[in-house]
Amino acid sequence: MSPTPHVLLFPLPMQGPVNCMLKLAELLCISGITVTVLNTDYIHRTLIRHSNVLTRFSSYDNLRFKTISDGLPEDHPRSGQRFLDLFDGMKTVTEPVFREMMVSGCFSFKSDPPVTIIIPDASFSFALDVAEEVGIPLFYFETVSPSALWTYLCLPKLIGAGEVPFNGNDLNVLIKNVPGTETFLRRRDLPSFCRLDDVDNLVTKIIMKEARCVPRAHGLILNTFQALDETVLVHMRKLCPDIYCIGPIHTLYKSLVTTQSSVSNSLWEENATCLSWLDTQVTRSVVYVSIGSMAMMTVEQLFEFWHGLVNSGKPFLWVQRPGSVIGEYDHNLVPKRLIDETKQRGFITTWVPQEAVLAHSAIGGFLTHSGWNSTIESIIEGVPMICWPQNVDQQVNSRFVSEVWKVGIDIKDTCDRGIVEKAVRDVIDVRKTEFIESTRMLAELGGQSVAEDGPSVMDLNRFIKTITTL
Ligand SMILES: *[C@@H]1O[C@H](CO)[C@@H](O)[C@H](O)[C@H]1NC(C)=O
Ligand SMILES: *[C@@H]1O[C@H](CO)[C@@H](O)[C@H](O)[C@H]1NC(C)=O
Repeated sequence: MSPTPHVLLFPLPMQGPVNCMLKLAELLCISGITVTVLNTDYIHRTLIRHSNVLTRFSSYDNLRFKTISDGLPEDHPRSGQRFLDLFDGMKTVTEPVFREMMVSGCFSFKSDPPVTIIIPDASFSFALDVAEEVGIPLFYFETVSPSALWTYLCLPKLIGAGEVPFNGNDLNVLIKNVPGTETFLRRRDLPSFCRLDDVDNLVTKIIMKEARCVPRAHGLILNTFQALDETVLVHMRKLCPDIYCIGPIHTLYKSLVTTQSSVSNSLWEENATCLSWLDTQVTRSVVYVSIGSMAMMTVEQLFEFWHGLVNSGKPFLWVQRPGSVIGEYDHNLVPKRLIDETKQRGFITTWVPQEAVLAHSAIGGFLTHSGWNSTIESIIEGVPMICWPQNVDQQVNSRFVSEVWKVGIDIKDTCDRGIVEKAVRDVIDVRKTEFIESTRMLAELGGQSVAEDGPSVMDLNRFIKTITTL
């Protein structure tokens, strides 16, 4: 018998990826595998402040936390427009420190085996070089959607074929070189960095590196369920044969990990009062609005949304994350009608327990930035979406939401009160029956995938078997 594996998890320092990795950590721990989670100092501090992760994890004696610098000064916001600084910081500081940690074996503890498997975020291409140098197998964990990952993996081909950068300004041209999506994926649905005029920019470079590294890894873990992403998985498997679909990971987690305490890996304080407010609302009547942990909007956009929501006449629960609005406005100049009607039908707060909100029967729609974590949470709860994507995988996700899964409306590249109002009315009223039907079907498939012997459970078991017999 091979010795017990010791897995090192290394998430991208952002809310979504950190949450997913922490769930994977627990799923591995309960199978008796030794796990070390490597977080940046900043993420670790934030988690300690706002979540119960340390107490929750203290019940596992096979789990450790380690931290590493992200190379940025303490007061750096690490979000919004300055998010890319993280990749600079990681390149200059984190990469060499990580290599040093791996080479010197600093992750071994007295009684533990040394690290035998590395599972970094799929954007950490540097980890593959280190893994190869020290001779340890590496599995990538991709927390962006498989559909977006597929466009990343096709990027060299897209550039080679002259489809990226775009030739001309028409964003509605169909893309030919992303197999499986030829009939519906337009230029505007590709990740936003594809809109740049040249390929000599930081994001394109990171993604090109990722596209080269992912197929070299031992295997790939995805946060999806087989039935949801068949369209692209069948093509992706030709490039990366060893794929494990263990999603939705937060649902798999709920079905496999029994925990007494409430689970929160949140980086901000959650306002739970919104749940009592939802209790007072009619079934499927409320639109939940959130642009997630990173996306931003301008003051003008804030007001378009505000007017649109108020004009729809529907109740709304709106998350306005601190720092998510670019620019300032005079609160005394807000039209009285907006204030009054918001008092009547709106609930605005800074952060909410999203899983509980989406699971609430009063929620009838989700106006979202279409981040993958939010998208898959909405899918599993059967909530139709209004998609307002900005970057990373969001443009791709929102196209799949509207055209492949048909569980929502994509309003990308617009921000107009009339469009917001119409989309809200469509989801809550006009096209309600259609969406109830399509979202229910997909939610059922998701539920089955994490039930006993469901495909996601089987893939997790297959993964555990793979790493224990390597
Ligand atoms: C998903 O994202 C939302 C908002 O960004 C957050 O509240 C929630 O905890 C996340 N869930 C998971 C499973 O990562
Ligand atoms: C939650 O949000 C409501 C509505 O904005 C606010 O009145 C309340 O003070 C908030 N509660 C906490 C604990 O932040």
